[in-house]
Amino acid sequence: MSAKVLSGTELAKKIKNELKVTVEDLKKNGVHPCLAVVIVGNDPASRIYVNLKKNDCAEIGIESQEYALDESTTEEELLALIHKLNNDPKISAILVQSPVPKHIDEDRVILAINPEKDADCFHPVNVGKLMIGKPEFLPCTPAGVMELLEENGIDVAGKECVVVGRSNIVGKPQAIMLLSKNGTVTVCHSRTKNLEEVCKRADILVAAVGRAEIIKGSFVKPGAVVIDVGVSKTAEDKLVGDVDFAAVSEIASAVTKVTGGVGPMTRAVLMKNTVKAAKLQANKG
Ligand code: GUN
Repeated sequence: MSAKVLSGTELAKKIKNELKVTVEDLKKNGVHPCLAVVIVGNDPASRIYVNLKKNDCAEIGIESQEYALDESTTEEELLALIHKLNNDPKISAILVQSPVPKHIDEDRVILAINPEKDADCFHPVNVGKLMIGKPEFLPCTPAGVMELLEENGIDVAGKECVVVGRSNIVGKPQAIMLLSKNGTVTVCHSRTKNLEEVCKRADILVAAVGRAEIIKGSFVKPGAVVIDVGVSKTAEDKLVGDVDFAAVSEIASAVTKVTGGVGPMTRAVLMKNTVKAAKLQANKG
């Protein structure tokens, strides 16, 4: 294997240690960051993610409040909870774990969150601020990827950046963030012709489609940086990413693994957003 493995675990640890000090200082000044985590239904992956997020909060000294709602919760009930959390001065930031059950309109849920408490940076006001280059909060996964690149001395300016996937959570904001760092950005999706050919142009390739190991060794230019955001399970219940790690790590100069890669970075940025929200609200007094 020739590629350097970029460790999200290590960088996330560093960020969390810094946040711990910030939170201690905030508390001395009477500011107590608190994240409300809302989970609706019984999706096992969501349960794991929510538990990890609560553990991160505890590590840093951020209070977390979990609201675990039944699968049968109505949209109105969920919206009522969000209004209550919006109006609760103790709550700094709100996260509604995605996906929500099918009978709930996720867009309405996101719109209901006070943009000043938007831990995920999903609200259109915050997405718009990011789009015009004046972000308040940052989208957790794309910002985590950017921090991982920066920490490892990987400059984006002038580089061919290819993002595979166009979700609102990752693909689209990732493209905007790479562009804001002066990358030349291409976004690929299910209708892209010659995915392999386009990916092979990339100096920096970010895969975020959630399709097991679709990025093969032949998709990667020698020396490219390959970031794997995808997480899926194979028929044998094995956790894999969007990238065929064994093959790609022979060709790329740097690559992330499906565990210990982007995931911890996503959560580290979530913690940053929570602290930022607490500060914003404290300054407004
Ligand atoms: N589901 C998968 N990723 C995320 C995320 O970053 N935030 C939320 N709220 N839900 C998710």
